[in-house]
Amino acid sequence: MPKKFIQDLIQDMSLEEKLGQMTQLSPMFLGAEESVNLTGPLNDLHARAQWMTLVGSTLNGFGAEKLMAMQDKNLAEHPHKIPLLFMADVVCGYKTVFPIALAMGCSFDPKVYETASSVAALEASASGIMLTFSPMSDLVRDPRWGRVMESPGEDPFLNAQMIAAAVRGFQGDDARATGKIASCVKHFAGYGAAEGGRDYNTVDVSMGMLRDFYLSAYKAAVDAGVMMVMTAFNTVERIPASANISLMRSLLRDEWGFKGVVISDFGAVDETITHGYSADGVEAAKNCINAGVDIEMMSAHYLNFAKTAIDDGRLDMGLIDEAVTRILELKDALGLFENPYKDASVAGEKELHRCPRHLEAARAAARKSMVLLENKNSTLPLKKSLKIGLAGPFTMDGTGGVSIYDGIVNKIPANMVVTAMTDPLGSMQDGIFDVPDCVEEAAKKLADCDVIIAAVGECLGDVGEAASKTSIRISQNQEKLIHRLKETGKPVVVVLFNGRPLEVTPFLQDCDALLEAWFLGSESGNAIADLLFGDYNPSGRLSMSFPHNVGQVPVYYNCYNTGRPNTGTSERYISRYLDCPNEALFPFGYGLSYSKFDYTDFRVEKLEGKIIASVTVTNSSEIAGIETVQLYISDVAAKVVRPVKELKGFTQLHLPPHASEIASFEITKDLLEFYDNHGKLVFEEGEFDIMVGRSSVDVNKARINVS
Ligand code: GLC
Repeated sequence: MPKKFIQDLIQDMSLEEKLGQMTQLSPMFLGAEESVNLTGPLNDLHARAQWMTLVGSTLNGFGAEKLMAMQDKNLAEHPHKIPLLFMADVVCGYKTVFPIALAMGCSFDPKVYETASSVAALEASASGIMLTFSPMSDLVRDPRWGRVMESPGEDPFLNAQMIAAAVRGFQGDDARATGKIASCVKHFAGYGAAEGGRDYNTVDVSMGMLRDFYLSAYKAAVDAGVMMVMTAFNTVERIPASANISLMRSLLRDEWGFKGVVISDFGAVDETITHGYSADGVEAAKNCINAGVDIEMMSAHYLNFAKTAIDDGRLDMGLIDEAVTRILELKDALGLFENPYKDASVAGEKELHRCPRHLEAARAAARKSMVLLENKNSTLPLKKSLKIGLAGPFTMDGTGGVSIYDGIVNKIPANMVVTAMTDPLGSMQDGIFDVPDCVEEAAKKLADCDVIIAAVGECLGDVGEAASKTSIRISQNQEKLIHRLKETGKPVVVVLFNGRPLEVTPFLQDCDALLEAWFLGSESGNAIADLLFGDYNPSGRLSMSFPHNVGQVPVYYNCYNTGRPNTGTSERYISRYLDCPNEALFPFGYGLSYSKFDYTDFRVEKLEGKIIASVTVTNSSEIAGIETVQLYISDVAAKVVRPVKELKGFTQLHLPPHASEIASFEITKDLLEFYDNHGKLVFEEGEFDIMVGRSSVDVNKARINVS
């Protein structure tokens, strides 16, 4: 039951006031930039100037002073003095930038994402932000899609753990508390399955596949108490998500019990017309309010046309009141009716933004997010006495943080580092597809170094939203550089800077070591140097598969077996390519360490009515390290086909040299359940393969019967 003051407000508010609360526009519409002539933008939105004092929230305005001033203006002008809610994309950090989510997924440590989100909330709330459009929990399988960087990866179980942790980090136990902000999980649902990896493209995934793979992370966010859900741009079963009643009401609200606010993505209400679903603005307003979309982001169909839909009897006024009640309850849950500025504080900004404690947290997160993919003859770690050659466009380009050059010279004397071919790589969006070819010059300049590091990858501007690519190779001159550096005969360490799995096959044979460094944020170069010189032992494991080539995409570990699996025989009529293996080049869960971990004494046994899978892990090296022991399960036969294996648990063992520890997992029935084709969660007795190992392809396996 809503609080009395909210019920009273609902009674007193005009329809236009209510529709204003259901509308979110960018700050310029609310007078944040007096200099902007709003005539054009208002016309584009078909919005009236007098509505601007009624808008209930804004997006991506930043700064304590600016947002407090906007709040003052709003409270002075709003008929019922309902506070504005300031929302923003605070995704992998605010002023202290953490690794991209795909990288943090590789840490296999939810605490990493929780800490990153907690720091982001502290910093953003000081700047007046009250809610973040994060975490993005879209499961991803296609590296052609630029937004894979925003996701924890390809696995439902790992994603669910990471997303729940992110929600906890942002919201804590009570988002009203100082330094906490509301969290909004996005994009509901299935946005990561865009055909061809082309952003905003058609998604055609059955409910069965949605339930097997795509929905668990959103549900984990809801179960963790996320306060808002954002709709996806795409259709689900041929109905735009923002207008999809079965998705937004039957599943999200009725089945999962979500009681919070649903917001559309940017313009997505209007796009129900473009999709060819809503005939016009009246239909768009009616369809999306009927679906339970409480706030329309960056279009004004609710303000323009909801009244017509009500007058025509196509829309129930009660749904408007329901939506506005949820919005006011969200504002109340953040304490805005008592304190409309929440934590906005200029002093707080000075004290918290990029403070040493936050930067250290970012460096720790970065260290855990990197994945060592190749390390021939223990090329890494490097001795600090070596003369280091450093070449490639990411030598000096810290992608917004400390560069690898600076990270290295923070550890060894600058006169021991020689650089070459350091021109940064521009963005394809600006028509730049390569770096100048200074390969011969670089080879000569670095010829007398003891080891050469190639800092290569893709431009930060070419990942993220609206950044799909058909090629996932690094540019030609970067590949040429690696080949030529290898010809010098020196050990070549390739460090990759990227926001998606890349096609490394063309230069893999030239790598004595290959370190996946992703985009790691503020402390990038320092964290990379920590790993290069062994001050941190790599512990990351891939959260998304690396294909041999883009033609293999999508390739992911938790696939269905098909009726003609490729079991490695010479048979012709099986599911395979003539020119490429089926398996990924580097699979989910894979990653190397400087330590050597041995697995012995694997067993699956029934103990006191419980099924326990266990294995002994020994660090048989001289270097302490972290091993992520992974549990996979396969249901041998079921009423709907099941993946060949599914991650159902993981644990990280911190092992000193020559130490051993037993990793054990209880196999509970909830780990064996699946959704049938009626959306029912079922357990079927029968045979299951239980697998425990160091990656999705390197496991010990035992078959058991569970009844
Ligand atoms: C964008 C994105 C969404 C973001 C929103 C607000 O189009 O799809 O992730 O939160 O608009 O910036």
